[in-house]
Amino acid sequence: MPNLLSMNNLENDTIMSLLKRAGEFQQGERAPIDGTVVNLFFEPSTRTKMSFEMAEHHMGLAVLPFETAFSSILKGETLYDTVKTMEAIGVGAVIIRHEEEEYYQQLEGCKVAVINGGDGSGQHPTQSLLDLMTIYQEFGRIEGIHVTIVGDIAHSRVAKSNASALKKLGAIVSFICPEEWSGDYESSEHLDEFIETTDVVMMLRVQHERHAVSALFSKENYHEQYGLTVAREKKMKDGAIIMHPAPINRGVEIADCLVECERSRIFKQMANGVYIRMAVLEYALKGRD
Ligand code: NCD
Repeated sequence: MPNLLSMNNLENDTIMSLLKRAGEFQQGERAPIDGTVVNLFFEPSTRTKMSFEMAEHHMGLAVLPFETAFSSILKGETLYDTVKTMEAIGVGAVIIRHEEEEYYQQLEGCKVAVINGGDGSGQHPTQSLLDLMTIYQEFGRIEGIHVTIVGDIAHSRVAKSNASALKKLGAIVSFICPEEWSGDYESSEHLDEFIETTDVVMMLRVQHERHAVSALFSKENYHEQYGLTVAREKKMKDGAIIMHPAPINRGVEIADCLVECERSRIFKQMANGVYIRMAVLEYALKGRD
């Protein structure tokens, strides 16, 4: 059965048909699947886990509860043996979030479908798909759209998944971050360079859990230098939108009052996440894209 591990190896046609299918689910289409899935979340999650649960509910799937804190992982069982156990008892797909980058390499040979819900600083394909859906619905295309990704690029799986997918689909992608967080990307430190011309400002949370944040950045300092301030939002062009995968640190990467402003698509992104995950579950369990 098809896995969904990374945006790097997903064909453009597959991406576009997942977006189309998600749109059909948004319009009310229902296509129940007779199957069982398990959500294996080894890192905290609110949106991804709950929207997978909502998607599983809409798809009529049976969901076996799994609590990492009460599992045999604590007795030293490997991720491979945990996933093989799911396979043995008849589970069709596992959704995994794990702090280890490319944890899925150790699952090669497992027959159960693996859907990546985020691997460390690696990839977050369903987040990228829901972001693409949001951009596509806004502008009617992805090609030629200018997306400015701002924040902790090097440690953000959202930035990496989107950078790869957006470029493949012909978008123009700019990166704004402190120099030490640029990773492999060519970046600028000045959001003001692009704020008046970009179509999408995609803000990121500083990934405190993945690195020691430099003492250089107090919250106020960071907001002033790299944040979407009220003054910057005023300079955005007509029709330009604000995105953020959340969780949000209000007043740090984005001003509190902008989270729900007219340009913000932050809660739209979350709503789209349910339809994208319905399409992804169908793709993984039925091989349909
Ligand atoms: C993101 C993640 O977990 O990578 N959140 C999400 O899934 N919506 C972003 C983040 O944690 O900053």
